[in-house]
Amino acid sequence: MCGIIGYVGNKKASPILFEGLKKLEYRGYDSAGICTISENKTLVEKDIGKLDEIKKKVDFNSLKGNIGLSHCRWATHGKVTKENAHPHFDCKNRISIVHNGIIENFQELKDYLIKKDHKFRSGTDTEVIAHLIEENYKGNIENAVRNSLKKIEGSYSLGVMCLDEPDKLIATRNESPLIIGLGKDENFIASDVPAILKHTNKVIYLENHEIAVLTKNDVKIKLDKKKIKKTIHKIDWDSELAEKTGYKHFMLKEIHEQPRAITETLNGRLDHGGVDFRKELKFSEKYLKNLDRIIIVACGTSWHAALAGEFMLEELAKIPVEVEYASEFRYRRPIIDKNTLVIAISQSGETADTLAAIREAKNRNAKILSIVNSKGSSIARESDSVLYTYAGPEIGVASTKAFTTQLIVLYLFTLLMSSVRKSLKKDVMKGLIENLRKIPLEMEAMLNDTKSIKKIAEIYKEKDHALFLGRGVNFPLALEGALKLKEVSYIHAEGYPAAEMKHGPIALIDKKMPVMVIATKDVYTYKKVLGNIQEVKARGGIVIAIATEGDKQIGKISDCVIYIPKTLYILSSILAVVPMQLLAYYVARDRKLDPDKPRNLSKSVTVE
Ligand code: G6P
Repeated sequence: MCGIIGYVGNKKASPILFEGLKKLEYRGYDSAGICTISENKTLVEKDIGKLDEIKKKVDFNSLKGNIGLSHCRWATHGKVTKENAHPHFDCKNRISIVHNGIIENFQELKDYLIKKDHKFRSGTDTEVIAHLIEENYKGNIENAVRNSLKKIEGSYSLGVMCLDEPDKLIATRNESPLIIGLGKDENFIASDVPAILKHTNKVIYLENHEIAVLTKNDVKIKLDKKKIKKTIHKIDWDSELAEKTGYKHFMLKEIHEQPRAITETLNGRLDHGGVDFRKELKFSEKYLKNLDRIIIVACGTSWHAALAGEFMLEELAKIPVEVEYASEFRYRRPIIDKNTLVIAISQSGETADTLAAIREAKNRNAKILSIVNSKGSSIARESDSVLYTYAGPEIGVASTKAFTTQLIVLYLFTLLMSSVRKSLKKDVMKGLIENLRKIPLEMEAMLNDTKSIKKIAEIYKEKDHALFLGRGVNFPLALEGALKLKEVSYIHAEGYPAAEMKHGPIALIDKKMPVMVIATKDVYTYKKVLGNIQEVKARGGIVIAIATEGDKQIGKISDCVIYIPKTLYILSSILAVVPMQLLAYYVARDRKLDPDKPRNLSKSVTVE
């Protein structure tokens, strides 16, 4: 959703805010703006478009002052116009606001404020907050914010500035993320860590209803007027991880980072011929052993990882697993008992539906294990135990390295469950681990040779539709391949279980239809998949197969083959997704699209 960054310190605020916004642009890129305070004036520049386009139209650098707020927008209320871009102001331009979230009772508040003679300039829900604070302002901005919040219903993270108190930033949140960055003689507010990583790695996570008052030398956090003590977290992400470091796009950089991300996710977790989660997992062996069911909740790409996790856990640990869209789960009355573990998977740890789903599960007394990438995020904080993916910050909107590291953690958790439940023989477990250790190197080799994928991308460049097929653990991959392609290249793509194709999608196949089939070798379905390929060929479709190195047969019946190294069937999905990610990237590039900022999407969906 939208991105917020605020600064107070000794330096000029506007360049810091612009740089910070660039790091948050994955959250929203339909419009953006910056405001500062200088010489008793509120200065503002805002416009529609992506940041680089706006920069050509307005002079952010002209904004003087050592305090400021900025925002990149993903529209909810009000069209994409300059007037609706943030920051928003009160009638006299004394109070400035940036907001992420949705104010549900905004119409009621707006009617009330209009009666009180407030003049509105935008069609946003946010602007009501500025006028409400103006209405409550009696010489103390902190109190005005506090009193205004009592009337506001909905989700928000807010940054507020007031001309009459020009050394102060106020920040608060409810169901929408906001962090405080602590620097030397400077302090920050931001929606997410990458925005401030260049300046500080010391962070406080603001909780719902807390109000932060920042000056350049001080940060006070209050709850119900009382000052509270908060933990300062040290972020161990290198600031370079939030830079493109020579790559044209974050998406490409993040695809290439996967071997490193996987190595870091495995680091310290494999020991004595098994999985070692002792330092992280807060559940006893007895508890894990007595579980009789697991429910995994997630959204988007994380949901695809969950489907692969279902396959792993049932196949190896022999425990029943159900996978739910978090947005559906939260509104059902799921049957959960104390022997049900709920696993939430989320890159950002802030997805509103996933957060709501774990709260629903907690209300029903389930324990929550989360698999999260962003340290200290809301989902991580609200879970009973967290297993982190060490992918580093993921900036590209289309998730890549988060997905493969989620698969790795799911695989590790599966091995742990298998050993607790004694479902695998020692030598089988040994083999599973040996093959897992090889994945980063195997992936590295694949990433060193992308020629054939670039050529295949040319087939897709002019197409309007595409089909992805897979079976077993590779069925979720077909879904992920289709999602990647559609989100960055805008080609309509569908993922299907290969055999299910006969029940509908086969009607779409003609000589224009590219069909990517994941046909890695396994004892279960390989031969059946070959049959599915023949069915596509018989109808003139173009078959692009992802196959195991050395498989000659597949070349005879497919138009193109992408080979992946030989590995265990259950691990093949971790490798097979790489060509699909690259394909989506190169097709977007060839269609002259920006894969880092696909239209209408946002990386972190913090509203319902
Ligand atoms: C958005 C992003 C996806 C992501 C999904 C779930 O839709 O564009 O890339 O998979 O949210 O996000 P999460 O952070 O919970 O994994």
